[in-house]
Amino acid sequence: MSFLSKLFARGSNKYVGVDFGSHELKAAQFGASVRGPVLEHVYRVSTPANAIKDGVVADPQLVGEALRALISDGAFSARKTISAVSGPTVVVRQVTMPVMNERELRESTKYEAERFLPYSVDEAQIDAKILGKTEDGQNMDVLIVAAQKDLVTSQMSALQFAGLTPAVIEVEPFSMVRAMIAPDDGQFEQNIAIINVGAASTSINITKGGFVPFTRNVPIGGNAITKAIANGLNVSMDDAEKMKREKARILSQQDTGPVPPTVTRIFNVITPPLTELVTEIHKSLDYFRTRFRGETIEGVILGGGSARLENLDAFLSHELGLPVVRAQPLDRAQHDPADFPDEFLRDAGPSMIVAAGLGKRDLAADTRSGVAA
Ligand SMILES: Nc1ncnc2c1ncn2[C@@H]1O[C@H](COP(=O)(O)OP(=O)(O)OP(=O)(O)O)[C@@H](O)[C@H]1O
Ligand SMILES: [Mg+2]
Repeated sequence: MSFLSKLFARGSNKYVGVDFGSHELKAAQFGASVRGPVLEHVYRVSTPANAIKDGVVADPQLVGEALRALISDGAFSARKTISAVSGPTVVVRQVTMPVMNERELRESTKYEAERFLPYSVDEAQIDAKILGKTEDGQNMDVLIVAAQKDLVTSQMSALQFAGLTPAVIEVEPFSMVRAMIAPDDGQFEQNIAIINVGAASTSINITKGGFVPFTRNVPIGGNAITKAIANGLNVSMDDAEKMKREKARILSQQDTGPVPPTVTRIFNVITPPLTELVTEIHKSLDYFRTRFRGETIEGVILGGGSARLENLDAFLSHELGLPVVRAQPLDRAQHDPADFPDEFLRDAGPSMIVAAGLGKRDLAADTRSGVAA
């Protein structure tokens, strides 16, 4: 399975995009039309506890059973899947190398990757793609994508347990770009941070022109917020999860009205993990600005289930000094309002950012976003 090959394989076959989240398994399927992708199916189910860790499917059979339920309960017609690997071992790097052909590149990539991979190249699945020659004509820009083999093989076996056929496995940042930014969008040529706040972790990506020059994964997400509520208010994790969804709100100076005491207490206990998250995002954006001097970040797209935390968008906007919008990837496809009411799409939207991009992979029109995406 290659991350970058068969990018534009088209056919009459339908694909379902499957996002292996540690909290929820999510899937989306689209059809083609002259007016762009049409949303056909979207569904999610809980991930069995502790079955996915750091992007590795620890229990492929158990996850396979949950995937089977996802596909049948969501009435998906496709059986071929497009999924993505994510987590701390996924590396996307743009490097400059002397001009060479694809065969020579395959040989050299291993040595090049050895310099920056935090694990052995023997454990890695590596792909490389030539992006083009540099201005002097002597060198070329190359996109190297790598992940630990375990991530890929464990995901494939879970899909096979479910009776599905893994057609493509890509890396998560590319899916999110495809879900949210198209070549004819005003934002396409800007540096936009796409931040996916999930359960176990948050991924911070910066994209421009269909490429992803920066991606980083930090182990803070919704679980840390739930844990803070459970510990701080001395309630079970299940109760804390419920309180987070129903009562948690990030307060600000603008909150002039009366605030119920529980809301204030929750806010106080979730402040430390939120502050930690903001610090990590700040660090990432600063690193990008230093590494790519002269580049400015124009805005933030906020996805992941935790993007639904009340006021997280306004809070991040205030802390980062940037406009922040909540990701609504499902709104970006044609859909029948009788099947998919607006309220449903808006509520599910942020957490479907990866699945939507995966489901649209085979329909993506643009070749450049295809390379990065
Ligand atoms: N309304 C809500 N308010 C706050 N948090 C929410 C809300 N709804 C869902 N969440 C949180 O979103 C998280 C799940 O998001 P998501 O589905 O993106 O995670 P995942 O992809 O399964 O996890 P990961 O990517 O970390 O493996 C959970 O921590 C959940 O508590
Ligand atoms: Mg996720």
